[in-house]
Amino acid sequence: MSLLDKEIAVRRTFAIISHPDAGKTTLTEKLLLFGGAIQVAGAVKSNKIRKTTTSDFMGIEKQRGISVATSVMAFDYRDLKINILDTPGHKDFAEDTYRTLTAVDSVIVVIDVAKGVEEQTERLVEVCRMRHTPIIVFINKLDREGKDAFDLLDEIEAKLGLKVTPLSWPAGMGQRFKGVYSLYEKNLVLFRPHSKQTEDVVAFSDLSDPALEGHIGQTLATELRDESEILETVYPAFSRDAYLKGEISPVFFGSAVNNFGVRELLDCFVEIAPSPLPRVTEERVVQPSEASFSGFVFKIHANIDPRHRDRIAFLRVCSGIFERNTPYHHVRLNRDLRFSNPTSFMASKKEIVDQAFPGDVVGLYDSGNFKIGDALTSGEDLHFKGMPSFSPEIFRLVNNDDPMKAKPFVKGLDQLMDEGVAQLFTRVMDGRKIIGVVGHLQLDVIQYRLEHEYGAKVSYEPVNLHKACWVSCPDKKTLEAFTQRRSRDLARDTEGQLVFLAESPWMLKMAQDNHPEIQFRMMSEE
Ligand code: G4P
Repeated sequence: MSLLDKEIAVRRTFAIISHPDAGKTTLTEKLLLFGGAIQVAGAVKSNKIRKTTTSDFMGIEKQRGISVATSVMAFDYRDLKINILDTPGHKDFAEDTYRTLTAVDSVIVVIDVAKGVEEQTERLVEVCRMRHTPIIVFINKLDREGKDAFDLLDEIEAKLGLKVTPLSWPAGMGQRFKGVYSLYEKNLVLFRPHSKQTEDVVAFSDLSDPALEGHIGQTLATELRDESEILETVYPAFSRDAYLKGEISPVFFGSAVNNFGVRELLDCFVEIAPSPLPRVTEERVVQPSEASFSGFVFKIHANIDPRHRDRIAFLRVCSGIFERNTPYHHVRLNRDLRFSNPTSFMASKKEIVDQAFPGDVVGLYDSGNFKIGDALTSGEDLHFKGMPSFSPEIFRLVNNDDPMKAKPFVKGLDQLMDEGVAQLFTRVMDGRKIIGVVGHLQLDVIQYRLEHEYGAKVSYEPVNLHKACWVSCPDKKTLEAFTQRRSRDLARDTEGQLVFLAESPWMLKMAQDNHPEIQFRMMSEE
């Protein structure tokens, strides 16, 4: 086996996604503890952006700063190199999360047993499902009272559209919680809330063994036996193949804060989760084992220190070996670039790397060359597909308040758009600029950063818009006719793509009904 094949085989790159507060940070931390990447609990700072007012702006920026350190957390476990890509929990930064999901090969979804499937989980899982990303579900906080396990699985199937199969099953819950039975390893893991040793594993190949009563009591033993019979008839047997195709999701139960059920999750994860997968480009499918290097930028993080304008571009290596100080082809700019300080992230440590392999993420110091979605290769022109742009929901006309600062205003806006902070549309009719964001926080971020990093003062003007959707039509003439007829409602995005600006859901529906030949898309996947 070549060095490249060996390195690919040992890598697992994934993200943990959840609705805020379900336990993503806690679970991440426990996984890092198992991998020895951190020594003490509490070392992983939550990158949660707590509710702040505009005046506490540096507060948000500082909190965002934390997420640089925790953007990628690598650790070793059982001879494997595991990369966890962190995603911001705050819903106003959901787009960051969607983009990060393009750089992983699988995900773990954390669900709070009491709250069940929450809104953000739905949106995130939808993106994973569209891409057939393999998903493992971890139901957390079993030490608390929550929903009935069967009801919860029904809810997951109904709301998330996932077909599930439990690989562990709880004995009791909350006050009565005694442990979980692993259907995968055929053992009973006992919960010991008040002892340091939180896990006690007893092999149980057969639940009819009378010893079960001794461990969890008569009532729970009967319940567990009855339920396990139901499980066998209701849920399909686990198939790794189906999981890898994104067709079935194994479910685990546990309590992250008590470090309970986490090792079982991790042990199963390392056995079933995929090693780096091929990536689709407009030109062809790129296999990780190809000798030529290729990768794409999925996230750009600005330096929070305004005196240093440089940014960090996060590049996912897709094929070949990335090497320090080697010139690579920047496809969009058609230029060669070399990197003297590519950085890797080991939990909270950063270090310069000489080499990186498929599945790895390297941080590249950037003075403005990168845009989200950019490809870097050994020479081939490749355009990676699947980087999503979602239809924003909040719109503002943006004005430059200081005519002397026209240049920094345009430059600042361009750079912020490259980072993916928001989307910029230029109205066809009058050339005015409209900013579209998914959350109000971004409006504050843009205003603050334009002023502090670029010296440009901007103000917003309300604009009556409900949605921006990308429009297209295979027939050029039809599209031209549409463009002329509806020029008042059209704009171009930064890529020059045509966008329909709808004032209301009703206007959008009318336009769709009146122009059945035109496709209206809520999401643009480049
Ligand atoms: P997030 O990243 O998904 O937003 O969630 P996070 O891990 O920060 O967890 C949210 C809260 O839930 C935290 O409490 C955390 O301690 C708690 N938690 C996580 N796992 C479990 C569990 O298995 N059982 C119980 N009962 N609670 C759990 P907090 O009070 O918000 O923060 P902290 O002060 O404890 O850090």
